Amino acid sequence: MPRAPAVARTLPSLRRALESLRARGATVALVPTMGALHDGHLALVHQAKRRASKVIVSIFVNPTQFAPHEDFGSYPRTWKADVARLAEARVDLVWNPGVGTMYPPGFATRILTEGPAAAGLEDRFRPHFFGGVATVVGKLFAQCRPDIALFGQKDYQQLKVVTRMAADLDLGVKVVGVPIVRERDGLAMSSRNVYLSSGQRAVAPTLHRVMKDAARRLRNGESLETVIADGARTIGDAGFVLDYFEARHAETLAPVRSIKDGPVRLLVAARIGTTRLIDNIGV
Ligand code: PAF
Repeated sequence: MPRAPAVARTLPSLRRALESLRARGATVALVPTMGALHDGHLALVHQAKRRASKVIVSIFVNPTQFAPHEDFGSYPRTWKADVARLAEARVDLVWNPGVGTMYPPGFATRILTEGPAAAGLEDRFRPHFFGGVATVVGKLFAQCRPDIALFGQKDYQQLKVVTRMAADLDLGVKVVGVPIVRERDGLAMSSRNVYLSSGQRAVAPTLHRVMKDAARRLRNGESLETVIADGARTIGDAGFVLDYFEARHAETLAPVRSIKDGPVRLLVAARIGTTRLIDNIGV
């Protein structure tokens, strides 16, 4: 049975663990997560192991990126299974701070995000989100001082926001995006997929099907307007409430009028029942 990774829960124990990880000039990769680990997270870990000699995975369900009406309380917490998977993957250290360690009494500082964080996608529907993400990721970078950090492309706008923040604040960490891992039927893996009823789970892959079809039609020269309108209709007909289905510049997230303005990324967010799913694809 693989040995369980070391776990740090306080800043002094994290510092001690980092000192021993850093000995002999090791390079360190950080994979920030909120736990409830699935194969998408494991792909981040495998990529981290290829790029650095030591791998830290943080597990912290960050309250500041949830609005009061969102699922902070019910977000899946699967500590034992997570540690077993990380042991299997031979991760070196798990950083698992408590809320009081991350946000001690009197905590009063937040990173204000602009640029990709104000692109009019997730920020339009979750206005609190990127401030919370940037603040916690900024803290995780300051605490762990990684050489590289890996994020999934499923949260595409988040990846751009964190990349921008690391560059703007000279944090000295290289942010690497890792392709989406999908279920066999195309549904992007997400810790929130466990919320889906079996009926909802059956229609959830519609999002990926619609995006794949839209990307193919765009490459064949059909107009962006028609393709996006058709896709939005199909998503609605499948039972989703659509937040957005848009084509954006893959780097700047600026709106595009045609794939000639590219590289183009299609991004979607839609709710089925009380579950909100996001996904994206390159054209
Ligand atoms: O993508 C996530 O799981 C979270 O937003 C992150 C990056 C771990 C910050 O809490």
